[in-house]
Formats: sequence, C-alpha cells, structure tokens
Amino acid sequence: MKKVLIVSSSLRVGSNSEILAHEAAKGALEAGNEVEFITLKDKNIQFCRGCLACQKLGKCVIQDDMNTLIEKVQKADVLIFATPIYYYEMSGQLKTFLDRCNPLFAKENNFKDVYLITTLYDGTSGKSERAKQGLEGWIECFSQSHFAGLLDCGGVDEPKITAGRKDLLQKAYDLGKSV
Ligand SMILES: Cc1cc2nc3c(=O)[nH]c(=O)nc-3n(C[C@H](O)[C@H](O)[C@H](O)COP(=O)(O)O)c2cc1C
Repeated sequence: MKKVLIVSSSLRVGSNSEILAHEAAKGALEAGNEVEFITLKDKNIQFCRGCLACQKLGKCVIQDDMNTLIEKVQKADVLIFATPIYYYEMSGQLKTFLDRCNPLFAKENNFKDVYLITTLYDGTSGKSERAKQGLEGWIECFSQSHFAGLLDCGGVDEPKITAGRKDLLQKAYDLGKSV
C-alpha cells in the first residue's frame, strides 16, 4: 500500500483535468492504496516571495494553506499532479504550488514516483511537453524522486468533456491503478 497524493490545479467548474484526476484516484484506491485528493480551487496559496527563509527555518514564513499541504507532499509516496495546459505550460496555480514546496528542498522526503495529467484543446501529440519538462525540472531538485508518467489528453476544451470520454477515463483509471 502506498500513500498517493493527487493535486488537481484547475480552478474551473467542470474541470476536465479534475475529472481525470478523480478517475486516477479511483484506480489508485481500488488498487489498495491510501489516497488523498486535493483541489487548489478552495485553497489560499500565495506566490513564493523568494526570501529563502525556508532554507534556514525549515518552513515558509507565509501563513496560508501551503503549511498543511506541504506536509502531505513530503509524506506521500506517489504524487499525481493534474493541470490544464495554459500557453503550452502547466497552470500558474500548479507552478506556484511547486514553488511553495521549496521548504522541502534538501530535506528528507518520501515521494518517489511523480505523474502528470494534462488537458488541452490541441489534439496533436507532444503539446504537453513543456509542462512535463517544467515538472521534471522540479523533480530533478529532489534526488529520491523521478518522473513516472504523463497522461496527455489533447482535444478537450469545453468543461466536463472528459466525463464523456471513456478512453481518457480508462487511461486515468489505469494510471491510478498502476502506481
Ligand atoms: C489561459 C489559457 C491558456 C490556454 N492555453 C492553451 C494552450 O496553449 N494549448 C491548448 O491546447 N489549450 C489551451 N487552453 C485550453 C485548456 O487547456 C483546455 O480548455 C483544458 O481542457 C482546460 O482544462 P480544465 O478544464 O481542467 O481547466 C488554454 C486555456 C486557457 C484558459
């Protein structure tokens, strides 16, 4: 049994990536893992201020929801991030979340396998590559972890489209089940 943390970063009602993230959660749960699902929709997460006080204090000086979220990231075995593609990149919300994990830099962290689920209107392949590379840059800074897989879901734009895409739901479920 692994601790699986799923972080859904879209703020949109009927989010395509969030629907797939829930499906991945279902797969991971049914495989016998301990699963926690987080959406950034209702969270207060400020930008990293770059003060680097976290490297001396071991924690961030900003008092917001990241204080509790960062512990969940540290303790998880598996991280699954879900993001809409914005201008060929991950959402700003997810980037901010990753930046705010800076107190974990040079600490003992548990998370090893890191997955990414993306949704975007462009149906041609490879259009989530920059988002993947951005996440890989973050992963590179945590030596115990590695990029474990990308579920790149192009051709979805209107809200809730993924709810009717059995192929994508199955892929997301399978991703969760395989962690
Ligand atoms: C600010 C913004 C930028 C976007 N940039 C892209 C893009 O570069 N390529 C693309 O294919 N879709 C782009 N989209 C479309 C979204 O990725 C797409 O609607 C996706 O399904 C949204 O996922 P969500 O419902 O989980 O938020 C953009 C949407 C927004 C709001």
